[in-house]
Amino acid sequence: MIDGRKKLKGKISVSGAKNAALSIIPAAILSEEPSIITNVPDISDVRFISEILTQMNVRIRKIGDDTLEIDPKNIKQKPATYDLVRRIRASYYLLGAMLGKFSNASVPLPGGCNFGVRPIDQHIKGFTRLGASCKMNGGMISIKAKKIVGNSVYLDIASVGATINVVLAAVKAEGLTVIENAAKEPHVVDLANFLNSMGADVRGAGTDMIKIYGVKKLKGTSYSIVPDQIETGTYMIAAAVTGGDVTIENIIPKHLEAIKSKLEEIGVKVTEKESSIRVVRKSQLNRCNIKTMPHPGFPTDMQPQISALLALAKGTSIISEGVWDNRFRYTEELKRMGANISVDGKIAVIEGVNSLTGTTVKATDLRAGAALVIAALAAQGKTTIENTGHIERGYSKICKKLSDLGANIVKIDGEEPVLHLQKAL
Ligand code: EPU
Repeated sequence: MIDGRKKLKGKISVSGAKNAALSIIPAAILSEEPSIITNVPDISDVRFISEILTQMNVRIRKIGDDTLEIDPKNIKQKPATYDLVRRIRASYYLLGAMLGKFSNASVPLPGGCNFGVRPIDQHIKGFTRLGASCKMNGGMISIKAKKIVGNSVYLDIASVGATINVVLAAVKAEGLTVIENAAKEPHVVDLANFLNSMGADVRGAGTDMIKIYGVKKLKGTSYSIVPDQIETGTYMIAAAVTGGDVTIENIIPKHLEAIKSKLEEIGVKVTEKESSIRVVRKSQLNRCNIKTMPHPGFPTDMQPQISALLALAKGTSIISEGVWDNRFRYTEELKRMGANISVDGKIAVIEGVNSLTGTTVKATDLRAGAALVIAALAAQGKTTIENTGHIERGYSKICKKLSDLGANIVKIDGEEPVLHLQKAL
């Protein structure tokens, strides 16, 4: 529950990137030796992927607040249970990681946020190019190869998941794999850096061509995950929507260029330093148009949050969703708070209003939940957000971080879908 209209002020530190952690944790099984991973965000998606690996006899030990030791020495090739896999989209990284390790993999079809059809044809295309055959049967994907052999892989779409999966499958392949039209997101680069620290030879991550020279063996490593670009952007917008003054630490400014540039257009002052960013908003919010695109474009994972901000801007803003088919479901909830938004397919037209009013709303997915938090921080009165399990999938200690900045936020119900997993970590 959030009692709105408190200006956020002060400093917070962001956690490690969810989407990097979700590929790096399964990638650790590619070695026989343990790896130590730090700056791991304390979120339920990390607990889910860890629980899936634990079921496969990988030993995962939590050290302190943000460090995991992952020891894959006794890993067993048993498929994860559907009950866990359906909760987390990134469980498809088990396919690439297991293929890279055992030359075969079997995983139930994954779940995750529900915003339209989420095909994995490009992942399958990549695996097939590396010499594997794929079958889908009874909700399971099974992939087998005599051996994985490097090849060229052209992705029809610069898919983050397909790029990462092909890299995972190819690091220990025989020969060279070249991915063209690869995704360039910071977490793709982070995964490549992690694998290289294990002794892999992955070159060009962050550009649209990635070359992977297969190596025979990977060793254990110690690695720190990059800061979460989307968590940072979310707090930048939270600062802006409340007319606050917030410094966010432990960030990489280069990852925030698209978000910074749009916030400046909206009338927010953003000052970067080497590893921090300060967001101050004193004046009226201006309208602006946004089209979401793969990196380095404006991230789709920030679209709901910035729409919540623009709901309070002067004038009409047009938001075009360029990545997902159906990522505007949250607008119905914002409308219940007084926002004036109409959606037609992949376009939303936002007529700015002077104020929003607190009520009971429901998070329909992770970033939708973040958008409702932002709206609630600015709204008149109290907002109760239901289904906060979605938010806890991707935001570490969000109530504490916002309270530290002066927000009036409290978790009033113990919705804790992953409580039993705490034991595993
Ligand atoms: N697509 C295909 N075929 C494929 C794969 C993707 O058509 O085989 C399409 C998708 O339907 C979508 C587009 O390509 O329209 C992009 O999908 P992508 O594969 O890049 O997305 P993803 O890997 O499933 C990751 C993030 C998402 C983020 C997208 C886009 C993880 C675990 N998830 O998903 O993050 O929205 O990239 O940047 O890394 C989030 O954090 O809230 C989140 C949803």
